Formats: sequence, C-alpha cells, structure tokens
Amino acid sequence: MNLIKKMLVAPAAVLALWAVTAQATTDEAIAERLKPVGEVCIMGEECKGVGAVAVAAGGAARTADDIIGKHCGACHTAGVLDAPKIGDSAAWKARADAAGGLDGILATAISGINSMPPKGTCADCSDDELRAAIEKMSGL
Ligand code: HEC
Repeated sequence: MNLIKKMLVAPAAVLALWAVTAQATTDEAIAERLKPVGEVCIMGEECKGVGAVAVAAGGAARTADDIIGKHCGACHTAGVLDAPKIGDSAAWKARADAAGGLDGILATAISGINSMPPKGTCADCSDDELRAAIEKMSGL
C-alpha cells in the first residue's frame, strides 16, 4: 500500500468507528427518552420506581408517615383482613403483649404473618424504619 492510500484509509477507519459510536449513543439516548415515566409496582415486590424517585428527590430519608402512606396504610388504615387499625392502641397493645413487646411485633412484621406480607410490602425498609412506622400506627 502506498503512502497516499494509507493516509486515506486511516481516517476513513476512524470515521467509520466514530459513526458507529455516535449511532450507539443516539440509540441509548432515544431508549432513555422512550422509557416509560412511571413503573407498575407489584405488591410484595420492591418498587424500583419509588426508590428512584426518592433518590431523585435528593435521597431524603423516609419518615414513618411516608412508609405508612406508601405501604402499611393500604391495610392498616381500614383494618383490611383484620389488620390492627392505625390509632387503635388497644388492638396494637394486645398484639404487643402477646408477642413480648414492640420488638416482638416488629419481628412478626419483618417475617410476615398470615395475610400480613413480610415487611408489610416495604421490602427495602430497614428495621428502624419499620419500628418507627409501627410506633406511629400503634401509638406504643
Ligand atoms: C396487605 C396488607 C398489609 C400491609 C400492606 C401491611 N400489613 Fe401489617 N398486618 C396485616 C394483617 C392482615 C395483620 C394481622 C395479621 C394476623 O395476625 O393474622 C397485620 C399485622 C401487623 C402487625 C402485628 C404483628 C403481630 O405480631 O401481631 C404489625 C406490627 C404490622 N402489621 C406492621 C405493618 C407495617 C409496619 C406495615 C408497613 C410497612 C404493614 N404492617 C403493612 C396486613 C398488612
């Protein structure tokens, strides 16, 4: 190959590579733009959308109210399936007494019991967050 040809081939190869890379970036960008805005969250499974929103919002720590609003309230507000109702301290106290205190019902809430799903559907809740939610709901 003579020098002129070499000089022409090299930039052509670079150009081709660049074109492929540029295309790839564009496809990714398009996929990103076409991504659904919301995601369906399935009960009992970690809700990735919710986490993403929390991170986007600066990763602010969740309060007990946030957790109750997103998770526990679904059943504990109305007492669905015999769940102890929010604010019904007597019902919560009876359960706490039977389970050996707040730690006892916290342990049950983590593992789940009958219709009460493990961690009350808040799969990424820490023990402390669950405890705060239980304290708030029970008034204990
Ligand atoms: C799908 C409905 C549902 C959701 C969501 C739910 N619970 Fe429950 N929970 C129940 C039911 C039903 C019971 C009563 C279970 C039983 O004793 O048979 C219960 C019981 C409990 C108990 C008492 C456990 C015991 O030892 O008696 C605690 C504590 C509790 N839930 C905490 C929570 C927390 C905290 C959340 C939110 C993070 C939550 N639950 C979300 C349905 C739910």
